[in-house]
Amino acid sequence: MDRIVVEGGARLEGCVAASGSKNSTLALMAAALLAEGETVLERVPRVRDVHHMLELLRALGARAEWDAEDPTRLRIDAAELTNPEAPYELVRKMRASFMVMGPLLARCGTARVSEPGGCAIGVRPVDQHLKGLEALGGKIRLDHGVVEAAGAPLVGTRIAFDVVTVNGTQNVMAAATLARGETVLENAAREPEVIELAQVLCRMGAEIRGAGSDRIVIEGVRSLRGVTHRVAADRIEAGTLLTAGLITQGDVTVTDVQPEALEAVLDKLRETGAQLDVKSDSVRARAGERPAPIRVVTAPYPGFATDMQAQMMALLCVGTSSSVVTETVFENRFMHVPELVRMGADIALDGRSAHVRGVPRLLGAPVMATDLRASAGLLVAGLAADGETIVNRVYHIDRGYERIEEKLSSLGAVIRREG
Ligand code: UD1
Repeated sequence: MDRIVVEGGARLEGCVAASGSKNSTLALMAAALLAEGETVLERVPRVRDVHHMLELLRALGARAEWDAEDPTRLRIDAAELTNPEAPYELVRKMRASFMVMGPLLARCGTARVSEPGGCAIGVRPVDQHLKGLEALGGKIRLDHGVVEAAGAPLVGTRIAFDVVTVNGTQNVMAAATLARGETVLENAAREPEVIELAQVLCRMGAEIRGAGSDRIVIEGVRSLRGVTHRVAADRIEAGTLLTAGLITQGDVTVTDVQPEALEAVLDKLRETGAQLDVKSDSVRARAGERPAPIRVVTAPYPGFATDMQAQMMALLCVGTSSSVVTETVFENRFMHVPELVRMGADIALDGRSAHVRGVPRLLGAPVMATDLRASAGLLVAGLAADGETIVNRVYHIDRGYERIEEKLSSLGAVIRREG
């Protein structure tokens, strides 16, 4: 099984381009099922989650393939959806698969998608997705772990989400584009990936207002057409690379990004003492001394992204004093903590908060994580640790980071992948 070996201590310096957003891509791929023509996505990150979604679209009967000339261009044609059924084997590997439910139901009048179940970072139910689809007229039935939905045509209505859910908002918004009449989503997620999806759906012919606020209004249309779209930058990858530079007291510029989407993270990096130079499409981060202590509370956008929590915590581990990191989005997202402690970090857990007392140095160690961002946090820590850190179970990192070891080594990290 692959692992990444980092020799800590090298100062990172230079420029690196962000890849397209993994999370946006997954939502857009699912939404491509709504269109009658071909949807072309450009700047698609070649990461495992995207490959999973590709397999799933094919299993549903869509044509989905990489362009022969551009390896980051993906062509999806859902003219024929022969089999609106998402098998357990594919859904189990990736919860985001559940986002095909809304488009399938809206387009085919029926859908069968395995219930994704729990995952390492918490229970993560899909009740809000189902609440929304049911309100639109979908008859939902749970049959031996498979969610069945039927109902055509869907009919617009008002839906108030009980919790702010990103993929839930995307799933229901996508379904509502083909419903009859008006749908109003209250307490909608405001993440940039929701806005990007709404923009693409509008270019496909949908009528959506208010994306980016907590109230989204969708006027149903009869059909959608395919479009070509270049995926926005991966704000989490960008934040990870900046944090990686800072923990080595380096000077890293991430290009091809939309800095507005990174604001909460940039604010916190500034509070640690980092010097930031923000341009329209790039961010340069230079470290001062060791990071100053800060307080971080994860929250739905525009709050601090839970997907950046582990990487930020790694940075704070070498801070000058005590920081507090509070996780409010997922109930079990501190799996990196015991591993960071094995690397010499001083962290005490207290419910949803981690008290991080900065230490001058971390120590390299073999580590292992059970989710994508936790692994990224350990990798960041390894860059600043004395000696060798071996990050096992690299497949977690490969789910969401494109050529991470190449990108880091282009900045001067001493890093290699071992098979
Ligand atoms: C998306 C992102 C993920 C990120 C998360 C939060 C993708 C592919 N994934 O995941 O990287 O960490 O947003 O920013 O875009 N919840 C319910 N019922 C539901 C749905 C969610 O209770 O039906 C809860 C979850 O358990 C969690 C919270 O709502 O506690 C937020 O989850 P949600 O925003 O849905 O995360 P995802 O959209 O799955």
